[in-house]
Order: sequence, then C-alpha cells, then structure tokens
Amino acid sequence: MSNDKKQTDNLIVEQILNNLPELPSMPAIVAQALNLIDDPNTEVKQLADVLSKDISMTTQILKLVNSAYYGFPAQITSINKAMALLGFDKIRTLILSVAVKPMMMSYSGKALWNHSIRCAVGAHHISKSLNYGDPDEAFVMGLLHDIGRTVMQIYNKNAYSEIDKLVAIGADVLEAERTFYGFTHTEMGKALVQKWKLPLIIGIAAQHHHNPLEAEETVSASIVYVANQITQEQLKYPVFNNEIIDSFDYEIQNPDALREEIFELSKPIIEVLS
Ligand SMILES: [Fe+2]
Ligand SMILES: [Fe+2]
Repeated sequence: MSNDKKQTDNLIVEQILNNLPELPSMPAIVAQALNLIDDPNTEVKQLADVLSKDISMTTQILKLVNSAYYGFPAQITSINKAMALLGFDKIRTLILSVAVKPMMMSYSGKALWNHSIRCAVGAHHISKSLNYGDPDEAFVMGLLHDIGRTVMQIYNKNAYSEIDKLVAIGADVLEAERTFYGFTHTEMGKALVQKWKLPLIIGIAAQHHHNPLEAEETVSASIVYVANQITQEQLKYPVFNNEIIDSFDYEIQNPDALREEIFELSKPIIEVLS
C-alpha cells in the first residue's frame, strides 16, 4: 500500500474514532487505577481505595481472583489481599477485562467476548512457556486484539454482518473490511489502544495479529497470532502459517491438545465474566 493511501486510511480511522458518540471511553476509575499501577511509587492501599469506589468492579475482580483460574487454596475476601497475592500486573489484566466486557459484549456479542478471553489466556500461556516478554502484558494483547471489530460494529453494525457472511464462505476478513469500511479492525484496534493510552506494544499486537512478521516487534505479535488462530471458534483444527511458526521458537506439537487446554483454562474466567 502506498504511503499516501495509508495516511488517508489512518485519517479515516482517527476521524471515526473521535466522532463516535456511542464509543465508551475508559471509565474514570479504570483510567485512574491504570495510572496508579504504572506509577512505581503507588502503594497497595491507594489502588485499593480507588477500586473500592466501584463496587461492581471490586466484586468482579474478587470473583475472578477466587476462580479456578488462579487456584488459590483459601477464599480471598478483600481487594487489598488480592493485590498483595497477585501483584499489580495481574490486577491490571483483571481491571481491563472487567472494564472492556460491557462494550464488547453489547456491541459484538458473546462469541467475540469468549474468543477474546481465550486469546488472552492463550497469549499468556504461550508467553509463559516461551519465557518471552511479560505474560500479563500478553494477556492484555490477546484480550484487545480484536477490539477494533467492536468499534466497527458500533460504527456500522449492518456492514459488519455482511462481512461476517462473506468470511463464513471463505473471504479474507481484512480484505472484506477494507472493501466495506475502507480500513480494517487491526488498524482500528491499534488506534483505540492508542486513544486509551495503553502501551504501544499492545497496539502493535492489535495491528499485526494477522500478519505478525510485518510488526515492529514480531515475537509478541506472533504469540497473539498463534493464540488467535488456536482460539477460532469455528476452526476445530487450528491452521498456522509455517513461515510465522518457524520465525520464533515456539513448537506446537499438538495444536488440538493446546486448543483444548486453552479452552479449559479459560472456562473459569468466562464463567465469572459472562
Ligand atoms: Fe483479528
Ligand atoms: Fe481474533
């Protein structure tokens, strides 16, 4: 694609993003909590104070912390205790999951939400087994990889239904999106992640989860690529591009078993946040 064309596309994406009245902004408490987490001087009590202003957020976080995903032997009843046990990085993934759910669920539906949680769990799992990057950051990359799709659905739901139909009969999702909207969910995802002021690497993963070898940081994008492929609902037998798989040191001996495992690991989170 020429640079001129790319710039026009970016402009369209920005314009839509900035003029979409229905687009939920990050709730103030979430933004405040994320800022506190990023500040190395923050103490547990400060963050707990902010979070406790949002009862629903606190309740859901505690449910997640007590879910089988974390497998703590004893019940954790306070947000302070949860933070001490899990650490800020994991709390960040929980805050974002709880915050993004209503938007994704109401505009894109349960299927995309479940896929996003599975992709998050998958990316966390792969990052950990590869011993590459920060698994909690990988979780957020997986969680938000398709968020651009939600923005497109907020913008024009009918056009997206047409894309879904075309993809179901074999069309390439990015090509179909470009035809109907003039941009793709990967471009929109990156723009939204930037608007929300999340780390750049999360935007890169959103932008390149379909073509990770073109990313500025190929390994993280490839991790999300694998997690995305393996958690496709309709694709019972995950298919990978060999060039991508060979480019990083991740051996997938049994894709079906890995898929099973990730679906199983995700169940408790999906149950809490459904
Ligand atoms: Fe995608
Ligand atoms: Fe996806």
